[in-house]
Amino acid sequence: MIRAIVGFFAFIVDVVYGNRPYSRFYLLETIARVPYFSFLSVLHLYETLGFWRKADWLKVHFAETWNELHHLLIMESLGGNRYWIDRFVAQHVAFAYYWIVVPIYMLLPKSAYYLMESIENHAFHTYDEYLKSHEAELKAQPAPQIAINYYCDGDLYMFDEFQTTNPSREFRRPKVDNLYDVFVNIRDDESEHVKTMVALQQPAAWLTFHSPHTVVELTPVEDKSQVLAPNMRGCLKSIDLNPPSPLKKGE
Ligand SMILES: [Fe+2]
Ligand SMILES: [Fe+2]
Repeated sequence: MIRAIVGFFAFIVDVVYGNRPYSRFYLLETIARVPYFSFLSVLHLYETLGFWRKADWLKVHFAETWNELHHLLIMESLGGNRYWIDRFVAQHVAFAYYWIVVPIYMLLPKSAYYLMESIENHAFHTYDEYLKSHEAELKAQPAPQIAINYYCDGDLYMFDEFQTTNPSREFRRPKVDNLYDVFVNIRDDESEHVKTMVALQQPAAWLTFHSPHTVVELTPVEDKSQVLAPNMRGCLKSIDLNPPSPLKKGE
């Protein structure tokens, strides 16, 4: 049922925006991140009312909104939000969608996560098809600066935070040499979102689902270099586990 509804709306968007890919992606990115805002709002509400606290879930969902925000910024840098009508439609649908997802998440959280899995799955296939049909054209264009900043130059903590189902803790370090690479990275981000939504529907998710950084912190091992991803080992080296006394001899 949910998959059919998502498929119907995706079909409408594809028909209306078929020949304007960046406007279509702008619309999809504006709307597709809204459920994460709904999840965050409801989780905050539960915590405020004293029902329960799911700090890891808040952190992961915020990292997902942060990732989707950067997809949106990339589409805006490519001109996807150039026309008033596209902004009007995207923002008003997003507003309505937020209020639709809030009660679904409160009453049927697994269904809300399944809805999001379906949307993220559609996003993955949309970008995958676009990559296959526009490979040469995309490889000839430079990457937007916002994509370079997000995937390469910035603090990647938030980027790592939404990659929750990676058992090896080998976080992605994507290249951004051209626009093709950017779309590959966005497609792969959507794949990570699908995996997280699937993980959150598992019966034991309530107990087992954690932020990837929390898992690292909680791993009880003697030699942490065996469990930390290579890119994090440098951080470990900077932590002195046996700091010298602040007082030197003779002081
Ligand atoms: Fe996205
Ligand atoms: Fe996504």
